[in-house]
Amino acid sequence: MINMNMKSLTDHADPSCQYLTFYPMITVERMAAQMMANIHLGVIVLDECSQVLELNPAAAKLLRLDRARVVYRSFEELVAQLGLQAQEKEQLTSFVYSAWDGQEMDWVWHDEGEERYFTLRMQALKNYEQRLAGYMLVIEDITALRLLELQVRRNSRLATIGQIAAGTAHEIRNPLTAIKGFLQVIRHKLKDSGQGKECGYIDIMLKEIGRISNLVGEILLLSKPRQTDLRAVNVIKVLREILPIIKNEALLHNIDVSFEKSVSALPVVIADGEMLKQVFLNLSKNAIEAMKRGGKLSIRLATMAEERQLQVEIIDSGSGIPEEVQEKIFEPFFTTKENGTGLGLPICRQILMELGGTIEPDSSETGTTMRVYLPLA
Ligand SMILES: Nc1ncnc2c1ncn2[C@@H]1O[C@H](COP(=O)(O)OP(=O)(O)OP(=O)(O)O)[C@@H](O)[C@H]1O
Ligand SMILES: [Mg+2]
Repeated sequence: MINMNMKSLTDHADPSCQYLTFYPMITVERMAAQMMANIHLGVIVLDECSQVLELNPAAAKLLRLDRARVVYRSFEELVAQLGLQAQEKEQLTSFVYSAWDGQEMDWVWHDEGEERYFTLRMQALKNYEQRLAGYMLVIEDITALRLLELQVRRNSRLATIGQIAAGTAHEIRNPLTAIKGFLQVIRHKLKDSGQGKECGYIDIMLKEIGRISNLVGEILLLSKPRQTDLRAVNVIKVLREILPIIKNEALLHNIDVSFEKSVSALPVVIADGEMLKQVFLNLSKNAIEAMKRGGKLSIRLATMAEERQLQVEIIDSGSGIPEEVQEKIFEPFFTTKENGTGLGLPICRQILMELGGTIEPDSSETGTTMRVYLPLA
């Protein structure tokens, strides 16, 4: 029995078909069938006239096909069931009809608004006389890999932009200091000589320089490691200190501000108090800016003693963050505001990361909650 199998399987010249098996042939076939049924690669077997002889469950799943509707039909009929765009269809059919043994192609399918990436490979199938009996189209879904590649490329581009921005910011800062100093001198002289109108111009220039200076400071903050003054900080105290600033700004925009706390443990974290202030100010500023026609801003602090965590929620009743925007809000320079710089949230996230904390947005059409978590001291 063993000898017979060895002979029948090794009889022909193609070494890839030489299974060295001690098992009966029927067992090997069953194993091969099970393998085809369980591998993650899609396989479509075509005869020499490109008629579909078989497809495995992975192929049916990847291409969303019903096996009963494609087997023993032409490959063209299979393609027609995919609902492809003209170019995708042309690419796929011309590859399958003109491919040679071992040829590969990357193929993108715009499937219901989603891009799916595949590697396709045509593998010739030969019969016992070494004559071409058909082809096997092997389909590998590489979408996850491609998306990861795109993300890595985007991250490295962002890192380069960050380095350039930091370098530029640094070079802008020095001349700015000189310009500011001389403008102040000129302002004094103009004031002394009673030139009030010109003095007003200088004030505007100084204000604008102040804005540039703030922006430059933010860019440097984001891109440079900074000196932190870490110590035990009571977060209620931090919030109380910035509440007047927030209330002042909210008043101008017809927004009610409330501060609630529910603490079962001391709300103390190890942090740099000034940086924490910056986080909560940035989040409150965003919340206020999202409520153009007034609304309610709630700041809620809670300690979760069991998890050794502190939670601060900044809740607004604004317009919410559209879904397609949500994934970008932490990217540096991403903004939907005419005068925004898009640095507020990336700075918040970076500061929190340095403190072992996290930030989670939760948004709907009725408003946004920014949830900050920090480890309790
Ligand atoms: N509470 C919120 N409600 C609605 N959209 C928000 C909210 N917070 C952030 N966003 C969205 O996220 C984007 C990025 O916010 P981020 O604070 O990083 O930058 P910015 O506010 O646009 O500019 P900057 O803070 O630098 O002045 C905003 O432009 C806005 O589209
Ligand atoms: Mg902001």
